Amino acid sequence: MFPPGFAWGASTSAYQIEGGWQADGKGPSIWDTFSHEKGKVFEDQNGDVACNSYELWEKDLECIQQLGLTHYRLSFSWARLLPDGTTRTINQKGVQYYNRVIDDLLACNVSPMVTLYHYDLPQALEDLGGWKSPGIATLFDSYAKFCFQTFGDRVKLWITINEPLVCATLGYEDGIHAPGLEERGIAAYLVGHNMLRAHAMAWHSYDSDYRATQKGAVSLALNSDWLEPLNPDCIEDVAATERDLIFTLGWFAWPVFVTGDYPEMMRAAIEHRSKKLGYIGPPRLPSFSKDDPTILGTADFFALNYYTSQKVKAGGDDEQTLCMKSDQDAEELIDPSWPICGVSWLAVVPYGLRKLLKYIKDTFNDPTVYITENGFSQMGPLQLEDVQRCEFFNSTILEVAKAIQEDGVKVRGYFVWSLMDNFEWSFGFSVRFGLFNVDFSDAKLSRTIYQLGQEYAKIISEHRNSGQTQ
Ligand code: GAL
Repeated sequence: MFPPGFAWGASTSAYQIEGGWQADGKGPSIWDTFSHEKGKVFEDQNGDVACNSYELWEKDLECIQQLGLTHYRLSFSWARLLPDGTTRTINQKGVQYYNRVIDDLLACNVSPMVTLYHYDLPQALEDLGGWKSPGIATLFDSYAKFCFQTFGDRVKLWITINEPLVCATLGYEDGIHAPGLEERGIAAYLVGHNMLRAHAMAWHSYDSDYRATQKGAVSLALNSDWLEPLNPDCIEDVAATERDLIFTLGWFAWPVFVTGDYPEMMRAAIEHRSKKLGYIGPPRLPSFSKDDPTILGTADFFALNYYTSQKVKAGGDDEQTLCMKSDQDAEELIDPSWPICGVSWLAVVPYGLRKLLKYIKDTFNDPTVYITENGFSQMGPLQLEDVQRCEFFNSTILEVAKAIQEDGVKVRGYFVWSLMDNFEWSFGFSVRFGLFNVDFSDAKLSRTIYQLGQEYAKIISEHRNSGQTQ
């Protein structure tokens, strides 16, 4: 059902699990700053301690082994390795921590996949302009080279940036993620642009200086919902659906996999809106210059984070505001017949994943795909016997199998979000995505497997192949 060497993984990210926010010379990140501000996170919670994986790594490793994972996706905290964000100061304690994690994983026959950036920019770099400043690309590239140099003998799967769409929109348009800016219709495009430049620089560095010896692969993780027209017979809804996919997945995937530049439709829509509102200033969607790294071809595989699907309704062209939504001109809705799993945005639509995979195959030149995140959440009273999550998960895996067998999509791995319950950004600890429950009221932060975890372990043991690829 799944090809040999298929990666069965689980994902986490540094800020969401590590804690140790000031331990052993780590510098602060924008999420430390943001979560310490009042009113930003559910009940003013923060990731100061989180799952305390900085001190309890061996507990995480036990969970990983209990599941029988072939792969584990973690992220490095940039500010733990480089406290001021630059290679001028290297925090050896941070290097030791990640060396230990990587070595322990390999000793247990688990391959690490490492994300270099999962939302937690060093605060020192934010103070210099952060992702809005063009110079960030060179700083990210230096950080990436440092990581390839230090860990690349053992890490063979790299993700440069996790979900640039989410960083740009939630962090700079809606202000609900760090750094909490609401510069509508402008900053998100600039941030996305610098993220693409940063990603591409890092990919080129790997390609020219490390690939030959380290033989790994580098990509960026793109999130996308599957979208369908609310009324398939309405041409406006059909067009809005296409435009919406272009504005979300296409924004980043088009430059990397198709043309090296943003989709024409996106540029035209943004220019149209700017003109209509009499906006004066440089084009809101920046252009790549001849001094920028080539963007096309800078991904060795397609890394997809999928959670949900939505119906799209043409939004009408009458919104008189400068914001990304009005550039897009589409409204997204959840079909009332879809079950919701935990958080309000998570309508469970397993077939959406298969459709999205097929869309990726057809639109982005049939790439090798890793599903780097997919998950179902819980809120309210704890349910260790989470039968419904198990059901959703089984149907989703079946859709992945169909995408491989019937649609010929080259899916090479599937990673559950998340290994364990953790700090779910603005929802704090109120939303649980784990294969393991973490008891945040217990000083020991004990980890207990959910039925979902048991189910996943069973699936892995049925499918796990003896020969592992990278
Ligand atoms: C993703 C993100 C993860 C996790 C997940 C569940 O967008 O990469 O960090 O929070 O959503 O909401």
